Amino acid sequence: MKLYHASSLHGTMTVPGDKSISHRSVILGAIAEGDTRIRGFLKSDDCLSTIKIFRAMGVSIEEKEDELVVHGAGLHGLKAPINSLDCGNSGTTARLLSGLLSGQSFSSALTGDASLSRRPMKRVIDPLRILGADIRSETEKGTLPLHISPSGLTGKSITIPVSSAQVKSALLLAGLYAEGETRVTEPALSRNHTELMLKAFGADAFSGSFKEPTAVIRPGDTLHGQDITVPGDISSAAFFLGAGLITPDSEITVKNVGINPTRDGLLRVLKDMNANLTIENEKEEGGEKCADLTVRTSSLKAAQIGGSLIPLLIDELPLIALLATQAEGRTVIRDAGELKVKESDRILLMSEGLNAMGAKITPTGDGMVIEGPTPLHHARIETGGDHRIAMTFSVASLINSDVQCVTLSDSSCVSISYPTFYRDLDALISC
Ligand code: S3P
Repeated sequence: MKLYHASSLHGTMTVPGDKSISHRSVILGAIAEGDTRIRGFLKSDDCLSTIKIFRAMGVSIEEKEDELVVHGAGLHGLKAPINSLDCGNSGTTARLLSGLLSGQSFSSALTGDASLSRRPMKRVIDPLRILGADIRSETEKGTLPLHISPSGLTGKSITIPVSSAQVKSALLLAGLYAEGETRVTEPALSRNHTELMLKAFGADAFSGSFKEPTAVIRPGDTLHGQDITVPGDISSAAFFLGAGLITPDSEITVKNVGINPTRDGLLRVLKDMNANLTIENEKEEGGEKCADLTVRTSSLKAAQIGGSLIPLLIDELPLIALLATQAEGRTVIRDAGELKVKESDRILLMSEGLNAMGAKITPTGDGMVIEGPTPLHHARIETGGDHRIAMTFSVASLINSDVQCVTLSDSSCVSISYPTFYRDLDALISC
């Protein structure tokens, strides 16, 4: 894949729909009564895995030009799948489905690709078993494939050790089928899209707050199909915001980006880093806030990133690490051990890749220490097939000082969350 240099970037753009919200709109649409119409649905590999799985359970899903229509089967209307259900690369699909399938009256099995098959699933298996789920892994380590058999679930109060929207959502979806109330407490609040959408579909559900990060679901209510407009994904917009900040003479506006307060950690850090960032035209739909975001080239300062901020920007940390190489001072990222169990070990690949380009990064057990600013030069980068690593280094390539651009071991993996990434980046360069 040929990457680009840029002397400046200019343009106004939108990014594709939010991945987390797209998954959830299909999942809840499938178990609702009536139709759910989804505008702005993200047609990326991960979300297509979720669609395929629901089709395999008898749900009719129509892909129209400008919307996706899910014909809901109702809470108890899913059909037993004939084959195992392939989650591809998608951790969100595997974990949310493990919860939903625990509440069904049929047996099922979840599989995934090589990367997903290495990722930890005990984090959903153990708490789902507390609710009474009959779920087991084929491996000692508790990885995919998972086998799920019918069982009676009982609502419980569960405290999970690591903040995770995927684990929380698995428990809330199982809780829809349990006897009594289920409460899930996290160390710090993670993205609350499931809670907001459950509420919008008519479930008796509550999101926790930053002060009291406990989500609640009470079973029994029928879900009703909704019209959903998915905002642009802040995790995709992040690459363009970052690119605009570190490329000389640049100005980029990304319109209609989701800025739910449980996802806006990047914006908080950018402000701290002295970024020239403006947030305009704020509005709210289905409980989800969105806005237009504009960045201009900025002299960045180092930042300290840790604690309860981490779940609010977990997917943006590779890009933040790149920005820190261009910022004055020492940036410390801590409390982010979760980065090791994402689509790749992101602490390892970011440190190795950026150091190969001339950055000064020390990986730590739960983050990175980055001394900036350092010029970046050409290198061959191992992406580990991880979409966010590939997109971060594509941004790094824009400012590398060599004639030769950065080379990626694999760039096609961007299709996991952002199939049109290179086209959209190219449009800003040629503008
Ligand atoms: C997601 C939650 C986060 C995030 C992932 C999407 C979701 O994972 O990293 O990309 O849609 O719920 P964790 O729940 O493992 O933190």
